[in-house]
Amino acid sequence: MNTTSSAYTSTWQSPSNLAIVKYWGKKELQQPINPSVSFSLSKAVTTTTVSLTPTKSSGFSFYLNNEEKPAFRPKIQKFLDRIRSRIPLIDQFHLNIYSSNTFPHSSGIASSASAMSALAFCLADLQQQVAGEKNLSIQEVSYLSRIGSGSAARSVYGGWNLWGHLPEIPESSDFHAIPLPIKIHPLFKTLQDDILIVSDQRKKVSSTAGHALMHDHPFRNGRIKQAHNNTLLLLKHLENGNWEGFSTIAENEAMSLHGLMMSSHPSFTLMLPATLSLINEIKEFQQNSGLPVTFTLDAGPNIHLLYPQNVKKEIVKWENQKLKPLCEKGTIIHDHIGDGPQKISQQK
Ligand code: DP6
Repeated sequence: MNTTSSAYTSTWQSPSNLAIVKYWGKKELQQPINPSVSFSLSKAVTTTTVSLTPTKSSGFSFYLNNEEKPAFRPKIQKFLDRIRSRIPLIDQFHLNIYSSNTFPHSSGIASSASAMSALAFCLADLQQQVAGEKNLSIQEVSYLSRIGSGSAARSVYGGWNLWGHLPEIPESSDFHAIPLPIKIHPLFKTLQDDILIVSDQRKKVSSTAGHALMHDHPFRNGRIKQAHNNTLLLLKHLENGNWEGFSTIAENEAMSLHGLMMSSHPSFTLMLPATLSLINEIKEFQQNSGLPVTFTLDAGPNIHLLYPQNVKKEIVKWENQKLKPLCEKGTIIHDHIGDGPQKISQQK
């Protein structure tokens, strides 16, 4: 990759995130129909470099792991079209976009969250370099990221984040995420996320198509109310260190998300038989061991196993015995809550 010939270059690393209260259903330009709460991951990150070439005709090239990937062009094109009024350099330069992920595509980790937030950080930084304007605020970067992919709005901070307006939290917004405005209990500051891979195949129905099915969903109003209540309760549990309460909400949100998929028109199922076998194992272990462990699912068959760091030894022992054999090729990806995006200094 040769980015050094450009006077203007920016590199950012940004994490994926995992939602406990799920964003499912949107209004125009990825404004969510309900609030969502997530934490940023540590190891699952996208690193993106954007370098600018002066040109009469704007446009972009996109490389993922050094390979040109035409499949991703429409989503990036749409993103650039939607933010060009805020980032005028898009009309003045050819953008060379080089991205790499630390995790496999379709692994149950939202690559659009890390990818779109990393790209938004690079563009915000470059706009400042080119025009000498003051830096965009982190909320503005969250706003731009949201336009690329809804869940990306929550990837601009480390730790726990909230996106979507709640009247009870006046600073919350549908336009950008905010860090949770509470003091997080130590129990939830070391949360581990072990991703139990059931299938690494591309999913049959994209999240974007799934969101669209919420438009006329028979349970739409109930879902909005549920997410609202779960968000307020979750905030209390995160503050008070209430593991039981946290676990109840995490599982309720995961099962509700998949229930919404199964009850939309047309319906679809993303869980696989091994997903259910793993859930049964987890429920049994929870009851028998009394240890703090729970799970969530995103829009796919893979399970995110969640537990605080102080029980890691016991959990990993059981996981290797009982869960690993049910995972595809025995694959488990270990991650945990992280500190958020960072700018990577240029190599000279
Ligand atoms: C199930 O952010 O991937 O992971 O806005 O269309 O890009 P678009 O969708 P996306 O949806 C994520 C859905 C989810 C839940 C969540 O992360 O809150």
